[in-house]
Amino acid sequence: MMARRYAASATIAVSAAWAAPAATAQMKSPEGDAAAGRDMALLACTGCHVVAPNQPFKPINTGPPRPPDFKEIANRPNVTTAMLQRHLATLPTVPENSHMPNLMLSNEELRDVVAFIVSLRNK
Ligand code: HEC
Repeated sequence: MMARRYAASATIAVSAAWAAPAATAQMKSPEGDAAAGRDMALLACTGCHVVAPNQPFKPINTGPPRPPDFKEIANRPNVTTAMLQRHLATLPTVPENSHMPNLMLSNEELRDVVAFIVSLRNK
């Protein structure tokens, strides 16, 4: 159960980082920070999604509906930054039929994680 222990300690480390003063947050780019989004996604999204090929453990949730791999989402022809942000911000908190719940991300987390997803688009 190494992976679980890793995830638990990483969660604590990230919680501490999230509590960092607003001064650092102001220096962030309005487009979002893909590296920060990746770190967050590895903690918050891997239970259901393949976020990165080398993520510490496989998704537990295999559907249906199957949570798509982030790379797959990034490479959909109609996906845009604005559309992903809107989608994640407007999901219901109590979803029906095992669809994705609203994870109540802050605006900054939303920008960062979407910047990360979009960065996975094949060049
Ligand atoms: C509890 C499981 C769960 C977690 C945790 C989760 N997702 Fe999902 N996600 C899903 C499922 C299930 C779908 C497919 C939903 C559907 O087909 O309606 C999905 C779909 C998506 C989609 C694609 C929406 C579309 O247009 O098809 C995006 C983007 C997404 N998730 C982002 C994220 C991000 C970012 C995180 C972490 C911050 C995350 N998800 C965490 C279950 C989850």
